[in-house]
Amino acid sequence: MKNVQQEEALQYFRTHAEDWQNKAKTSDEGKINIIKQRNGYVIDVIKDRKETKSLLDVGCGTGDLVCDVAKQEINAIGVDFAQDMIQLAINKAKGEQLEKATFECCSIFDFDFSKQKFDVISANGFIEYISQNELNKFFDIVHDALAPNGSFVVGSRNRLFNLFSLNSFTHQELNESNVDALLKESIALASGETIEEISRLKAASLQSPDTQHTKTGIDVTTRFQYTPLQLINMLNDRDFRAIEIYPIHIHSVPPIFKDKYPEVHNSISNFLQAYARQHSELVPLSSSFMLHVSKGA
Ligand SMILES: C[S@@+](CC[C@H](N)C(=O)[O-])C[C@H]1O[C@@H](n2cnc3c(N)ncnc32)[C@H](O)[C@@H]1O
Repeated sequence: MKNVQQEEALQYFRTHAEDWQNKAKTSDEGKINIIKQRNGYVIDVIKDRKETKSLLDVGCGTGDLVCDVAKQEINAIGVDFAQDMIQLAINKAKGEQLEKATFECCSIFDFDFSKQKFDVISANGFIEYISQNELNKFFDIVHDALAPNGSFVVGSRNRLFNLFSLNSFTHQELNESNVDALLKESIALASGETIEEISRLKAASLQSPDTQHTKTGIDVTTRFQYTPLQLINMLNDRDFRAIEIYPIHIHSVPPIFKDKYPEVHNSISNFLQAYARQHSELVPLSSSFMLHVSKGA
């Protein structure tokens, strides 16, 4: 039986598949395409690896990443529990005659992992829709499903950004006395400290399991945020080694200004995104981030 958060997510993505596909497609330079930013990072990770024969994309949405990866002659599987998303993904792969792209409609917690191991597993914009218990289970599943030296690339809403958004998210962190830990992690990242140095810090406590997040465009009540250190700690416990923290959707102005003058924000943000690789000092100012970890030391 799914929980309320997963029920809400399923209902939302079932009914918004076409909107999502349009969002993924946009190449208007005046807009920010977060889906492309995230997918581009996974492609970069694949380029950096010696060899990649297979990829699993969890919560694949309309299948854009799976199709891009399949074009590189890599067997790519996308899993999503929203049938409408999967149908659009299948249509795209068929339209582009991509034999290496396959899709399955099911919850990742029901997927049959017994058939193969994967060189790369990606989960972009997915973990915010599962509970913290499910996240622990998910990380165990990923660890078992990865081949030796496999890469796991996971995207997350960035809890550190709550300090720099200077809005209701900041008030919430102040009220719950989390600012100290979040600020220390932000300073460490902004000072260019290594992942090893950052890992010595004490992470902020996880958000309460029943947190109700201020809505930012998606009609799901609880969409968890994490800091890079929180995820690194959970993954370190499972014998993963953190390699890179990559900023997504960099802000140089507070969201209230962004909403008034989106074209100003979008053009600065897109300009800064070109510097994202190897610049984790931009992470505290980013509303999301990606973490690349590898299996084994
Ligand atoms: C925000 S969308 C991201 C889609 C795509 N990864 C992207 O970046 O464009 C999150 C996706 O996760 C899917 N999802 C959420 N929970 C899931 C679960 N338990 N199993 C499989 N898919 C899930 C949703 O249906 C939705 O398509």
